[in-house]
Amino acid sequence: MPELILTEAEGRVGRITLNRPEALNALNLQLAHEIVDAALEFDADPEIGAIVITGSAKAFAAGADIKEMADRSYASMYLDGPFARWDEFTALRTPVIAAVAGFALGGGCELAMMCDVILAADSAKFGQPEINLGVIPGMGGTQRLTAAIGKYKAAELMLTGRMMGAEEAERAGLVSRVVPADDLLDEASTLAETIASKSLPVVYALKDALKASQNSGLAEGLRFEKQAFASLFSLNDQKEGMAAFVEKRPPNFTHD
Ligand code: CAA
Repeated sequence: MPELILTEAEGRVGRITLNRPEALNALNLQLAHEIVDAALEFDADPEIGAIVITGSAKAFAAGADIKEMADRSYASMYLDGPFARWDEFTALRTPVIAAVAGFALGGGCELAMMCDVILAADSAKFGQPEINLGVIPGMGGTQRLTAAIGKYKAAELMLTGRMMGAEEAERAGLVSRVVPADDLLDEASTLAETIASKSLPVVYALKDALKASQNSGLAEGLRFEKQAFASLFSLNDQKEGMAAFVEKRPPNFTHD
């Protein structure tokens, strides 16, 4: 049984709540494993069409666990990379929404950026303060923050360790929307339910195409998208979706 997270499923939405309040949800190895395991379990369940990952009002996650890492050597970090299992998280096929309130710092910001959509409470604060600890981001921040907000703004944030608030993060393109903190979970659930109501194979294909846009250059990404687009015409859900539009009625997707 997980000890540092809470999980629940409601309809077609799975929710993972980080629950290590005494350390502001700092990602120690146990918490990281529990998040990845829970996410994999939801991902394997065809009844789940979207996952929400969230923290507390004070912290989404304040980073990798500094106390756990402080005395590790180069060899131990290199041989037994504490961040290796995040590859499994980023390989999930189910869309994941990060619902962020409070601090999303270091590995916490990086965890949010491994999700597909970031929804922010007006209390959210994002940053990569690793430079203040004598290290650099280690869970993808140098790549994903740069891709999300551009090299120059990402460089300023990472070189100074400055935090940015929710409004600035939205302007910069890191978060899709800012909502009042009290509404965060409801808004995230509504968003997740909307995504989960779509055809599962089409959602998977879209997520693969989005990943291709991040992991390759434009030409390669466009090639991937063209193939994926054509392949969807083998689905019943494509026929149903287009027929429903023509007939001016809601689609009835059967996920095949
Ligand atoms: N690791 C371990 N413990 C942490 C932590 C972290 N990342 N962040 C907070 N905590 C602990 C604190 O040590 C404190 O524990 P104690 O009560 O035992 O002292 C508890 O959580 C509450 O924190 P604060 O008292 O510091 O709370 P605050 O409200 O005064 O400050 C904060 C909040 C500004 C977020 C501050 O806690 C902070 O700066 N945390 C560290 C942020 C950080 O540097 N993150 C990057 C980590 S490195 C990383 O993530 C590498 C990577 O790329 C993967």
